[in-house]
Amino acid sequence: MDWLVDDAGICQALSPRKFPFLPSPYRLYHFLTDLDALLEQSPHPQDLLPQLFPRVAHLLHTSPWLQWPDLTPDADLGWAVQTLYDEPNYPITVQRVAWAANGRSPVHNHATWGLVAQVVGTEVNHLWRRVAPDSDAVAPAGDYPLRAGDMIGFYPNAIHSIAAGDDAPTLTFNLYGLTDYQQRWQFDPSTGTAQLF
Ligand SMILES: [Fe+2]
Repeated sequence: MDWLVDDAGICQALSPRKFPFLPSPYRLYHFLTDLDALLEQSPHPQDLLPQLFPRVAHLLHTSPWLQWPDLTPDADLGWAVQTLYDEPNYPITVQRVAWAANGRSPVHNHATWGLVAQVVGTEVNHLWRRVAPDSDAVAPAGDYPLRAGDMIGFYPNAIHSIAAGDDAPTLTFNLYGLTDYQQRWQFDPSTGTAQLF
């Protein structure tokens, strides 16, 4: 299942993936080259993200190394990030992320578009929304479990928190645009406050 979360925290299920013609194997450099062109043609998340789902699915399917469960969460942090691509001043970051069993992220936005593909295990995306446009208070906006093969895309102001299942360590393949660090927030739902993240 593919999910897309807008800036207001509204999540819609996307229609089944339509695969454009893509080389096979579709290697990471093919994908990055395609993404470069797509960003030129469709810079807005609402146009860009739906085009990324089938390409990420094909990339993961034909590049098995991206699915190897070889990323071990840090024993103290409970998670690990492996950066596969992050060029300074260029709006693409590619990562693999692993969470330990029952790990929990803070409530946060990313201040850029994002796409997360679940590769191993189960993670629940808890969605949140601001209770008013200028408020830092957030309210729950729905829970979306992701199993291997599922993906979720986010607009820049979408707010979520992650809860890894007990079938961890989990593994996800994550894409992000260029983060505006003055707009990336960590929210405290219990106090209705936020701080830069
Ligand atoms: Fe996140």
